[in-house]
Amino acid sequence: MSPEEFKRLGYRLIDSIAEYRANLEAFPVMAQVKPGEVRALFPATPPAQGGDWEGLLQDLEALFPGLTHWQSPNFFAWFPSNAPLSSVLADLVATGLGQTGITWQASPALTEVEEVMTDWLRQMFGLPNTFQGVIQDTASSGTLVAMLTAREWATQYAQERGGLQAEERPLTVYVSDQAHSSVPKAVLLAGLGRENLRLIETDSAHAMRLEMLEAAIQHDIVNGRKPCAVVATIGTTGTTAIDPLQPIAEVCRKYGIWLHVDAAMAGSAMILPECRWMFSGIEQADSIVINPHKWLGVAFDCSLYYVREPAYLVRAMSTNPSYLHSAADGAVRNYKDWGIPLGRRFRALKIWFALRDMGVEGLQARLRRDLAHAKWLEAQARKTPGWEVLAPVVLQTVCLRYNPGGLSPEALDRHTQDWVARVNQGGRAFLTPALLKGRWMVRVSFGAEATEERHVEALWAVMQQEAQKVEVDT
Ligand SMILES: Cc1ncc(COP(=O)(O)O)c(C=O)c1O
Repeated sequence: MSPEEFKRLGYRLIDSIAEYRANLEAFPVMAQVKPGEVRALFPATPPAQGGDWEGLLQDLEALFPGLTHWQSPNFFAWFPSNAPLSSVLADLVATGLGQTGITWQASPALTEVEEVMTDWLRQMFGLPNTFQGVIQDTASSGTLVAMLTAREWATQYAQERGGLQAEERPLTVYVSDQAHSSVPKAVLLAGLGRENLRLIETDSAHAMRLEMLEAAIQHDIVNGRKPCAVVATIGTTGTTAIDPLQPIAEVCRKYGIWLHVDAAMAGSAMILPECRWMFSGIEQADSIVINPHKWLGVAFDCSLYYVREPAYLVRAMSTNPSYLHSAADGAVRNYKDWGIPLGRRFRALKIWFALRDMGVEGLQARLRRDLAHAKWLEAQARKTPGWEVLAPVVLQTVCLRYNPGGLSPEALDRHTQDWVARVNQGGRAFLTPALLKGRWMVRVSFGAEATEERHVEALWAVMQQEAQKVEVDT
């Protein structure tokens, strides 16, 4: 494609994205296709000749039924994943400039903009300046890096000897039974073993029970194991529960354990002074993940990984082949040593553009709007007979169930799943059913950039309409 052709097609694509965003409400939120329907749109073999741009634009449109519309104002599923248009442009620029940051020398701008952006966000989140950050693709990767670093730190760098296989004492890791699936996954991928993963019980607010944590640690020590890491979640995926960070940090200090904080979702809320209580004790964390690609308004993918002591991370991650040496080494940061991949996208541009677009105050206002939406829905549910609010509403997610009475627990589970399925299939809103302590509930997660008050009111109306249709089959 020549630069001239790029302009012609590019302007049309920008127009069509803008039109899509302007008309988001017209689409059913959840994708309406059946498995295989999208695949069937494609020929079995790749095109022998290129250059068919007109056909491409049409084919792109044919994919639309296969899209779930995350940017819809009626998207209340999982957690939000905002992609403001400023961030979309930044992504275009990042790829347009074709940078690959394998070292500082490979793209000084890429490295240094990332240093500045991670520091700006550090300030916005109220993290002390002892923390330094790097951008990862996702929180899953950040947590894996944390577990690998904790493993090496706890074994005084066993990787430089016989690795885990030569260690005498098994390493143990502690997470709440509400931790995101990426946490156990990271523990397993780090080679620590399921038998050494402790799922700590949670309290009635779904937060980690401190006395259970300490008891598990003591039990492992007595039995010859070596506690390696605790993962505290600030904003669990199920209910946005807040593990008690300050006392957990004290326990970690007392036993010499790595403290990793998964604030993938709630981290964004730390730009609001009124939410900072959730981060009380954060200065004692060894590593933290926060996903600006969830709620903050930086298009996917952009996850921040902060560490208090970069030397531990770099020692676990660094490589030093001769072809990557440069005269600047020693005076610059080489992010290849701050994570797993060598190559690095110019993701920091997305943060920069988003901040230039919305500013800190604009972001704060949007997050406060979403918190208010959650409070409004909670209030409606609390005052309407049959509705149960199942977890404290501390952020933008409301966990609900409609209990018409007279149903067995199993029938109530079926009812919950059925009415959510009806809401989702109807296309007017998209919600997530989930298990909470063994029973089905519904998560309503606010935070899509486009959601206004009227969408929240319409959502409540459709939820009531569907939930109150009860087929009596106890
Ligand atoms: C608390 C928490 N941690 C981690 C993740 C994983 O995020 P990612 O998709 O960036 O790996 C999620 C995703 O929703 C989450 O809610």
